[in-house]
Amino acid sequence: MNDRATFTRMQDSTQADWQRIGGEYLPFARQLPDRLMAHLKVLEGDYGGFPVDRYTHSLQTATNALRAGRDEEYVVCALFHDIGDTLGTYNHFDIAAAILKPFVSEANLWMVQNHGIFQGYYFFHHIGLNRDMRDQFAGHAHFDRTAEFCDLFDNPAFDAKAETLPMSEFEPMVRRVFAQPKNSIYKTSSAMTDKLVAATFTSATIT
Ligand SMILES: [Fe+2]
Ligand SMILES: [Fe+2]
Repeated sequence: MNDRATFTRMQDSTQADWQRIGGEYLPFARQLPDRLMAHLKVLEGDYGGFPVDRYTHSLQTATNALRAGRDEEYVVCALFHDIGDTLGTYNHFDIAAAILKPFVSEANLWMVQNHGIFQGYYFFHHIGLNRDMRDQFAGHAHFDRTAEFCDLFDNPAFDAKAETLPMSEFEPMVRRVFAQPKNSIYKTSSAMTDKLVAATFTSATIT
């Protein structure tokens, strides 16, 4: 650990440098689920005027999806759909979508990315906005999926008395969904990094 490359400009980096960086990158990448779960917990105690805090809302949305028999990728999307609330004050759904993008289907990604507008159906009219803003997506392949997500899982997840499973229930799913990216410019590189790390480890073991 803490093996460092020595270049001062990236253009001068060498394959040996990238072997060192790869050795650090892989353990870091594997800890992504831990960082995500820790970051979601930042929302604990953050009520923002809502009846339940944002951590409870997140766990309850995922609980609702799980109890309805949705698959684990969907449940994980439900769990993290509002993780952007801390930094994406004006676009929290974009933050969640960016985090999930390498790991989930196009349908689930679209659902998370657009849930902010669809959820607006239930309250935009109270704040001077058009509750039918979602109608701009009428006919879209994922309209019904996203409307249903809000209707069945996100919209009702503000109930302090409703079942709210703890993070430990979702942790194995989180680790599986974030184990390997499906869509990333680094996908090939990650396989290569695996080889580099394996090679480094093997040579270090032999010598
Ligand atoms: Fe949201
Ligand atoms: Fe939500």
